Amino acid sequence: MTKPLTKDDYRPDDVTVHRDPVRLNRVIRALRNAGRNVALVPTMGALHAGHRQLIREAQVMQNTVVVVSIFVNPLQFGPNEDLAKYPRQFESDVDICRQERVGIVFAPSAEDMYPKGAQVTVHPGPLGDELEGVVRPGHFAGVLTVVSKLFNIVQPTYAVFGQKDYQQLQLIHRMARDLNFPLDVVGVPTVREYDGLALSSRNAYLSPEERHHAVTLSAALTAGAYVSSQGADAVLKAAHDVLAQTPEVEVDYLELRGVDLGPAPENGDARLLVAARVGATRLIDNIAVLLGEGDEQGE
Ligand code: PAJ
Repeated sequence: MTKPLTKDDYRPDDVTVHRDPVRLNRVIRALRNAGRNVALVPTMGALHAGHRQLIREAQVMQNTVVVVSIFVNPLQFGPNEDLAKYPRQFESDVDICRQERVGIVFAPSAEDMYPKGAQVTVHPGPLGDELEGVVRPGHFAGVLTVVSKLFNIVQPTYAVFGQKDYQQLQLIHRMARDLNFPLDVVGVPTVREYDGLALSSRNAYLSPEERHHAVTLSAALTAGAYVSSQGADAVLKAAHDVLAQTPEVEVDYLELRGVDLGPAPENGDARLLVAARVGATRLIDNIAVLLGEGDEQGE
């Protein structure tokens, strides 16, 4: 028989850490029965100001208990990727959650998330093979599988993700729609350093010199967005010109797409996305562009 819930399972005045998915699910159901909304912020830890912003957005919703999951998901790392050396700093992550008044930190073990014999995964469809999917085969199946598991365990009213990982956000929107998850997916604008570099846990891998070069990604996106009224070709040329000035930044792709990552429209809202390697570190970034419109009328 399972132990009944106690006040240690949820402390309204402090963050509570849960590791067992079954027990967490019971706590959540009790909170929802008590009339609370639940907002989920999925992360892989190494929390920074970008994650803090997601937590703050989650708190904007009325009467909400915020659940931050911290789980370095082995399923979304390729064989040559950084799973073993991915930054892990659990205690300071919990401190950040406490400062941000998070209700629950959910930090399951890999064994609890993927019991022996587990084999069913979520297939992302064709978008999973494009952009990031070209260099990271299987990555988005890993992301969507863990996110759907988190949705089922936490049963949130809202789930909050960053636009920093724009393709991931679009795929999660699609999954929620295509698989009928009864929740709202909320996208939060990218939080950046003083010079424009998008915050990322992977920035910790950059040497001072690489950090200096890394700003080229956001500088290229800004240069592209700046000339967006002149159309797609001008946007791509302006961004390419900036990237070409820093040969230390090896570009994997620079693409202009529609906001749903279909083909870019001739006029209207689009998204410019870039991925590049700086030394051994792979960075991604993206920006909104308004093509062909909003042209300033000269006198
Ligand atoms: P992680 O890289 O830890 O990111 C967790 C969330 O923080 C994602 O929604 C991501 O888009 C957001 N984020 C990261 N940097 C940001 C920034 N500079 N500004 C705003 N938001 C930012 O993304 C993942 O983990 C995983 O794939 C996950 C969804 C948790 C599934 O394992």
